Amino acid sequence: MKKPSRPLSSNPHLITWVKKMAALCKPDAIHWVDGSQEEYDALCAQMVGSGTFIKLNQKKWPGCYLARSDASDVARVEDRTFICSLSKEAAGPTNNWVNPFEMRKTLKALFAGCMKGRTMYVLPFSMGPIGSPMSQIGVELTDSPYVVVNMRIMARIGKDVFRLIDQDFKRVVPCVHSVGAPLKKGQKDVAWPCNKEKYIVHFPETREIWSFGSGYGGNALLGKKCFALRIASAMARDEGWMAEHMLILGVENPEGQKTYVAAAFPSACGKTNFAMLIPPAHFQKRGWKVWTVGDDIAWIKPDANGRLRAINPEAGFFGVAPGTGDHTNPNAMQALAKNTIFTNVALTDEGGVWWEGMTKEPPAHAIDWKGNDWTPEIAKEKGVPAAHANARFTAPARQCPTIDPAWEDPEGVPIHAIIFGGRRATTMPLVFQAFNWSSGVYIGATMGSEMTAAAAGTIGKVRRDPMAMLPFCGYNMGDYFRHWMNMQKGLSETPRVFHVNWFRKDRDGKFMWPGFSENMRVLKWIVDRVRAGGKAKETPIGWVPRYRDIEWNGLDFPEEKFEELQKFDKDAWKAEVIGQSELFFDLHASMPKELIFERELLICRMG
Ligand code: OXD
Ligand code: MN
Repeated sequence: MKKPSRPLSSNPHLITWVKKMAALCKPDAIHWVDGSQEEYDALCAQMVGSGTFIKLNQKKWPGCYLARSDASDVARVEDRTFICSLSKEAAGPTNNWVNPFEMRKTLKALFAGCMKGRTMYVLPFSMGPIGSPMSQIGVELTDSPYVVVNMRIMARIGKDVFRLIDQDFKRVVPCVHSVGAPLKKGQKDVAWPCNKEKYIVHFPETREIWSFGSGYGGNALLGKKCFALRIASAMARDEGWMAEHMLILGVENPEGQKTYVAAAFPSACGKTNFAMLIPPAHFQKRGWKVWTVGDDIAWIKPDANGRLRAINPEAGFFGVAPGTGDHTNPNAMQALAKNTIFTNVALTDEGGVWWEGMTKEPPAHAIDWKGNDWTPEIAKEKGVPAAHANARFTAPARQCPTIDPAWEDPEGVPIHAIIFGGRRATTMPLVFQAFNWSSGVYIGATMGSEMTAAAAGTIGKVRRDPMAMLPFCGYNMGDYFRHWMNMQKGLSETPRVFHVNWFRKDRDGKFMWPGFSENMRVLKWIVDRVRAGGKAKETPIGWVPRYRDIEWNGLDFPEEKFEELQKFDKDAWKAEVIGQSELFFDLHASMPKELIFERELLICRMG
């Protein structure tokens, strides 16, 4: 091994752990990551040299790069994601469980010599603002420079984090990541090394993460799904807070009051668009604004006064590119206009990037995400998209024009309302409000959504995705529901709970609601309900707005259409409640009583 770069931490526990992992993984070199711009630039240049990165036209896309992954490594791999708690019950039936002793043996064999021919980066990161009482710290050992530069955007990394670790190593979550592609002497590397065998492994009791075989997104940027959701959800249960798959936004009314909302939607269901919503002209004129705190993850904790406050533990957006454009999300387009890493989008002839939905007119020619020639004609003929459906941009959050001035407040922002939502063509109305916390938890727990390309699986199939946490809860889902029930008990103010569905379709299969900016009308009703005793009507499923309770100025949306969109369809709901049974059956041993009663109450109200 080359002489390792000088350790940037004096913490003996960290140094010993790094040595132990180096002895196992056998990298050619060790690089302690300082997090500087110079280091970032050097790593990007190195990846341009190795073919992993393409430097984009710097006049049009300053500081931007494009990476193309291996065609087999394009999404999170839920079937290869493991929660290795001591007992199977602790992981629960919704997680893949393997006995931790067995898994450790497997990992030891997989990681032995896995970094040969590569550099092991020692990457310290803080999820949440450095030094915030709500933040957490990790160190990721990785053999992927792509991971290092993406993590520099997605988290706070480098020397300042080492400084915290020097004071205290106990809090550090150790994360080990390898693309699983050791190089023999003289062997030429590929642009996107990975292994067809993949393991994304969590040990919730010892708070450890091991990831093997993938270089992509949530499989490899271990601060995100692995730490900030799976491990953090277990920490949160033990310590009395919540780690949720939620965006956070602030709605400012004409009086200048801000109402913060946290909203859980499954992957690729529009969280980024919702978090960056631009109100329709009429609302803007009157002084309504939407501020972005985060687009994917919320850590929520009661403050000393018993009110829930939330931070976004991330520092960047790892957004789905297809469908993002000036007409759908201009704020995201500005956020990604510079200093952004694109993965699996198309390369234009001008050295820029393109993906489906970015502009109405496609380019006449591009190189698609697999590196092949692409034209609109080829797309039509062969059905090949220019960008992969799960192509991503990694962009700094601070570049978003609507980033909330309080987005890095170490104390977090106060949460007034919680929204659950899925992608549902039928059954679910545009919006309804839960009667109280326990009916709200029931609504979250029974959430269903059509599957998207964010994970490998059957696209379009409705699956139960409780609180959008099915792939991300690091312990037994029934215990997680109980934790939700318990969280309310210590609160002085309970956030109101809502459910939204932007995706209901009419008989002809057309979306009934225009979505995007127009979702502001729904948000306003929510804010009115939270703040000003806004009006609503009671139905079997919850409180719903009447036509006159929604602000329609600037949108021609007939009352009959709204009634259709909001319709409570008893037969569809009957099927829905029956569809929920599987979840109740699977979790019967741990399901809190309140949710069983909520289900009974719902059936009684429908009867
Ligand atoms: C994401 C996801 O990347 O949920 O945010 O898959
Ligand atoms: Mn997500």
